[in-house]
Amino acid sequence: MSDELLIERREDGVCWVTLNRPDARNALSRALNLRLAEVARELAADPAVRAVVLTGAGDKAFCAGADLKERKGVAAEDTGPYVDAIAGGINAWAALPKPTVAAINGYAFGGGFELALACDFRLASPNALLALTEVRLGIMPGAGGTQRLPRLIGVARAKELIMLGKRVDAQRSLEIGLVNAVSGEAGLTAAVDEFLGDLSACAPVSVAKAKQAIDRGTEVGLDEGLRIERECYDVTLFTEDRNEGLKAFAEKRPPAYKGR
Ligand code: COA
Repeated sequence: MSDELLIERREDGVCWVTLNRPDARNALSRALNLRLAEVARELAADPAVRAVVLTGAGDKAFCAGADLKERKGVAAEDTGPYVDAIAGGINAWAALPKPTVAAINGYAFGGGFELALACDFRLASPNALLALTEVRLGIMPGAGGTQRLPRLIGVARAKELIMLGKRVDAQRSLEIGLVNAVSGEAGLTAAVDEFLGDLSACAPVSVAKAKQAIDRGTEVGLDEGLRIERECYDVTLFTEDRNEGLKAFAEKRPPAYKGR
């Protein structure tokens, strides 16, 4: 099981997590979803990890969604735990208090698309193809797709993708704001590295609190959103890193942030 999720912690603080079931186009079995949730929580608690990138093994798929072979043998009334496992894995990913990137290196279908939606950023290789195929399978997105997609690209376009099950390629995904960038000749890994830039220049608590303010604040009215922003801001005021940032600026040197 552990081989189905590869975890590589790099020296720059970026942790690469690879869905490793290339023969099944990295489809999400129940066990893999549970492991995804567990790993998201581990990485959240690891101070050495500054950002997390999720990708798929092989050159064909990021993730082909729920494991349809596993699901086939499950009666409708017993499907609940499977859907809960997918949603649990995806929600744990969304809750990770660090920058998260989906490096979409091919097909991102169904739950694979929903997993990418739970990341802060999506970068696609030119051969990426994204679709919420569920209505074509007699079901509907059940792991956040109907909620996260309209918030990201607007209701009309989200309905197009969800209610008609349309596929979108990398270029179209970029045009509609579904992905942040499409990789060039240097490849997807290089594009992700360039996109994330120098994470050591960003204070981890500031990054986490800014993410929280955006994620929570955009779900409520402006007044409440501004209150949440202030609450998050106040946390940064009492960190060592806030003092370090001001000191480093005065001393004209790069800051050495510690995440506290
Ligand atoms: N669950 C389980 N197995 C899957 C899978 C899934 N979601 N998607 C692909 N696979 C398996 C195939 O059954 C096949 O297995 P086999 O070699 O034992 O026959 C293998 O992965 C390769 O798939 P194949 O269809 O031959 O590869 P492809 O590169 O031509 O096409 C996809 C890839 C992703 C376009 C295609 O497999 C597909 O449409 N899969 C279903 C995706 C989907 O709708 N997911 C949403 C679920 S809610």
